[in-house]
Amino acid sequence: MAVFPIRTFGDAVLNSVAEPVAVFDEELDRLIQDMLETMYAAPGVGLAAPQIGISKRIFVFDVGEGPGHLINPDVAEVSGEWEFDEGCLSVPERFWPISRPAYARLIGLDSTGTAIELEGDELMGRMLQHEYDHLNGTLLLERLGSSERKAILRELRQEALGIARPE
Ligand code: NI
Repeated sequence: MAVFPIRTFGDAVLNSVAEPVAVFDEELDRLIQDMLETMYAAPGVGLAAPQIGISKRIFVFDVGEGPGHLINPDVAEVSGEWEFDEGCLSVPERFWPISRPAYARLIGLDSTGTAIELEGDELMGRMLQHEYDHLNGTLLLERLGSSERKAILRELRQEALGIARPE
């Protein structure tokens, strides 16, 4: 197993639509184990493959009920609304109150290529939506209001360029 460096804001892989997984082999199993190890080391509750520079439609998670993963997911259902202080390992140490549907149900495949379904509300529902977004090149910043998003994007771009954040 291996811990990968996590790509952060400004890395183009985070803005790319990831490719579907077509081969379900030992290499895929190994990637999932490495992603879980990377997620636990961070630590985080979810990690999508683009966050370690692999543009494939895979994410792993553990919201406190043990490790899981989902491949080639689709959102089957969302409902309700819930505001939560959301963060992302690719925009480290920042959290913003973001509203999203409280409940989500995703369909996809497991590492053997078998169809599975994952669902949940609150933290589980939030994680499912957040990680799904990563596979479409969408960061949580896109879920902020437009004026707040603009201000934060400006700040993050300056940081990425090495310009100090004003106190
Ligand atoms: Ni994230």
